[in-house]
Amino acid sequence: MANSTGSFGIKVPKRHGLFRQEGQGRNAPCAARAKRTEMGQLRSGHILGISQLDQDEISFILDTAVSMKEILERPIKKVPPLRGKTIVNLFFEPSTRTKLSFELAAKRLSADTVGISASTSSVVKGETLIDTARNIEAMKPDIIVMRHSMSGAPYLISRYVSASVINAGDGTNEHPSQALLDLLTVREHFGTLEGLNITIIGDIAHSRVAHSDILAFTKMGARVTVCGPATMIPPEPDVLGARVCLDLRDAVRDADVVMALRIQKERLGKLSPFPSEREYAREFGLSAALKTYLKKEAIIMHPGPINRGVEMSPEMADAVNSVILKQVTNGVAVRMALFALLLTEVQKEVTE
Ligand code: CP
Repeated sequence: MANSTGSFGIKVPKRHGLFRQEGQGRNAPCAARAKRTEMGQLRSGHILGISQLDQDEISFILDTAVSMKEILERPIKKVPPLRGKTIVNLFFEPSTRTKLSFELAAKRLSADTVGISASTSSVVKGETLIDTARNIEAMKPDIIVMRHSMSGAPYLISRYVSASVINAGDGTNEHPSQALLDLLTVREHFGTLEGLNITIIGDIAHSRVAHSDILAFTKMGARVTVCGPATMIPPEPDVLGARVCLDLRDAVRDADVVMALRIQKERLGKLSPFPSEREYAREFGLSAALKTYLKKEAIIMHPGPINRGVEMSPEMADAVNSVILKQVTNGVAVRMALFALLLTEVQKEVTE
């Protein structure tokens, strides 16, 4: 996508609402606005899942995130476009990376942020999720970022609030901003996503990251292979078109990207899908012994948090070809892009 120099002296994707050029925006002629819609702004006022985004929208978010990275590399990492906007972080499950990076992303764009967790909210007193959402809505936030253990929770509240809702991970369903930051990290490394082989290893059945990543990489023209204990691979069609390979060495042989996942113990209940963590690590853990099967240029990824010694050895987590911390850095840029795209006037015109 072509770039132009925006209001804050940075290169931004052309037709970016925040860094609008003269003759565009709320007072722009209808023809200009219509053209903008055709250019691929987001169709929805929410970010609920990768399943709702098409290839153009994903590319547009990634291009916007690249411009946001320029801000993050400045000595003063703050610009004013979202001054006066309010973002509520509603996290009903633990989080380090996602919660912090949504909060930092908001602050970098000068939005006000407030947050609440399950244990400190009135949910513990018996309030329903919908009542909680309606009460938050009454305080007029612009965006609600929500993580919840129940698949579908952000979709549910999006029907009851006029604020935009961003899904920060819902049960075993989706984690769209994680997939977008993963795409950005891989695209940054290889210069493209098309034609790459992506291997995702671990608890595919319970991982919302796996679900969003399979959808996202496939939409962008990559081929996805999933690997793990048979008890953690969902039956077709729930692998969403990914190739299933139960042998780790075969699964990584042609991979450009090898991504390990955490076992989602909190979602297993009393189930024990493998005999012991030691056995899991021996069969499916990424360790130095696997290096001989990897392509030299392959990169190692993990959404975090890592259980070192289980899904990945410390040597692999900290290897030179590990991009795990780059994923975290890109998380802030992607979340800035999402806020920016949701809060531009142009976006509202498109969704109204
Ligand atoms: N990747 C991820 O969602 O990490 P957190 O659980 O720490 O947010």
